[in-house]
Amino acid sequence: MRTPLVAGNWKMHKTPSEARVWFNEFLDELGAAPPGVEVALLPSHPLLPVAAEELAGSGVAFGAQDVSAHAWGAYTGEVSALQVADLGARYAVVGHSERRRYWREPSELVAAKADQALKAGLTPILCVGEPLEVREAGGAVAYVLDQLRRSLAGVEPGGPDRLVVAYEPVWAIGTGRTATPADAETMAAALREELAVRYGAGFAEGVRVLYGGSIKPENFAEILAGANVDGGLVGGASLEVASFLRLVLLAGGL
Ligand code: PGA
Repeated sequence: MRTPLVAGNWKMHKTPSEARVWFNEFLDELGAAPPGVEVALLPSHPLLPVAAEELAGSGVAFGAQDVSAHAWGAYTGEVSALQVADLGARYAVVGHSERRRYWREPSELVAAKADQALKAGLTPILCVGEPLEVREAGGAVAYVLDQLRRSLAGVEPGGPDRLVVAYEPVWAIGTGRTATPADAETMAAALREELAVRYGAGFAEGVRVLYGGSIKPENFAEILAGANVDGGLVGGASLEVASFLRLVLLAGGL
């Protein structure tokens, strides 16, 4: 049985003081998280120490939206996986489509980032997803599997709890358009099969595959119904406590 994961990607939103208020309100309203659901928040780097402080002892995890492909050194402006891990973070997103697109991050760089995350003790949340023209031309599965393969070149997670894969169709991110539950499930199943080829059947059985792209309380339950979809990577709907809390409860079957 895979524990569903609901992860909130705040992107470049909120100040440290706004984050502090959000965490407090969220923990107050959450009470005890529904059994069998893992919750993680992914705020931008300057908010991570606030997450570490406010979420300590709550069972709610946190992580970074990106880490450097280098372990340490003269890389001005970069943030290392070791720095993030030292704060008590559990996760690091790598290969988000906004980074692939605006910073032209190729899958080879994403693989190097995943490798650094693992070496620092973080679990990478590896994002893959196709642009609209690829989906319309019928090439989505082939495109995404190729992206997965290249983004995992040389990456050895060691166990299924040391990797999360998020399928995020580019055309669904922040657009209000979502993949159909059937398309999300088909892709999640294809990703799991590819992970079985890469790391073995036991690994693939245990690894979590998330969907992301315009998740909201109104569409999350039907997306989660897919047997291979193990939760969500949530952007916009994670910014408000009420909507994110609703998603967490839905993942717990409430
Ligand atoms: P969205 O973002 O939920 O706002 O579409 C998802 C993501 O980019 O992870």
